[in-house]
Amino acid sequence: MDNAAAREAPGPALQAMLRRRSSSKVDDTAPTHEELLALVAGAARVADHSSMRPWRLIELRGDDRERLGRALHKAAGEKGVSTKPLRAPLLVAVVASIRKSEKVPAWEQEAVAAGVAHMLSLALDEAGYGVMWRTGHTTRSKAVAKAHGLEAHERLLGWLYVGGKPERSRPERPRTIDAERMLSRMPQGTHAEREPALAPTEKQQEKQQAKHAKKQAKKQAKKARKKAKKAKQQAG
Ligand SMILES: Cc1cc2nc3c(=O)[nH]c(=O)nc-3n(C[C@H](O)[C@H](O)[C@H](O)COP(=O)(O)O)c2cc1C
Repeated sequence: MDNAAAREAPGPALQAMLRRRSSSKVDDTAPTHEELLALVAGAARVADHSSMRPWRLIELRGDDRERLGRALHKAAGEKGVSTKPLRAPLLVAVVASIRKSEKVPAWEQEAVAAGVAHMLSLALDEAGYGVMWRTGHTTRSKAVAKAHGLEAHERLLGWLYVGGKPERSRPERPRTIDAERMLSRMPQGTHAEREPALAPTEKQQEKQQAKHAKKQAKKQAKKARKKAKKAKQQAG
C-alpha cells in the first residue's frame, strides 16, 4: 500500500489505536497466562535503544492482589487491606529495570518500559479485554516495591488492570484528539532570542513526588482518624 492509499484506508494498527479506550470497569474474565505471553511477545517489540530490555512485567492474580492491597495501605500509613486491586482479576505490574549505561540514560530506559505498557494495553484491548493503566501516590513506596520483590535498580510504572469488557448499554462515543494542535514545527529564530523552558531534573521530580506522597499519606491518615472517631462515636 502506498502512502496515499494508507491515508485513505487506515491499516489495522492505526484502526486499533483509534478504537482503543481504557475500561475503568471490567468483569472477571482474564486472559490466561499463555494468552498473555503471546501479547507480551508482541509488546516486547517496542523500540529499545541498544536492545537493553530494561523492563519486566509481574502478573498479579488471586491473593496476590490482596498482598498488594495490604502494601498500598501500609505505604499510606493505614491498617488493613486496600480493595482497589480487586477491581480487576488480573493486574500486570510494569517495572522499569534500569541498568547503568554510558549510552542509554535512565529516562530512555523508562521510556522503553512505558512503551511496552502502551503496546501491551493496545494488544489486550484489541484481543477484546478491558484495560486501564493505574497508579497512585504510593506506587513508588518501599512497601509496594517490597511486595513486588523489586531490586534497587527497579522502578514501578504502575499496573495494567485487566479483565473482561462488560457489555455497554449505550454505544461508546468516539474520542477525537485535535492532532493539528499536537504537531508543530520548531520555533524559528536564533538561540539567543529564545530561552527554552527547562523541564525539571530527575532529582527535582523525585523531590516533588516524595513531597506529594507525604502530603497524600498525611491526608489519608487524617481521613482514617476521622473515620475511626466517627465509628467510635456511633458505637458509643
Ligand atoms: C502512567 C499512567 C498512570 C495512570 N494512572 C491512572 C490512575 O491511577 N487512575 C486513573 O483513573 N487513570 C489513570 N491513568 C489514565 C487512564 O489509564 C486512562 O488513560 C484515562 O482514563 C483516559 O482514558 P483513555 O485511555 O480511554 O483515553 C493513567 C495513565 C497512565 C499512562
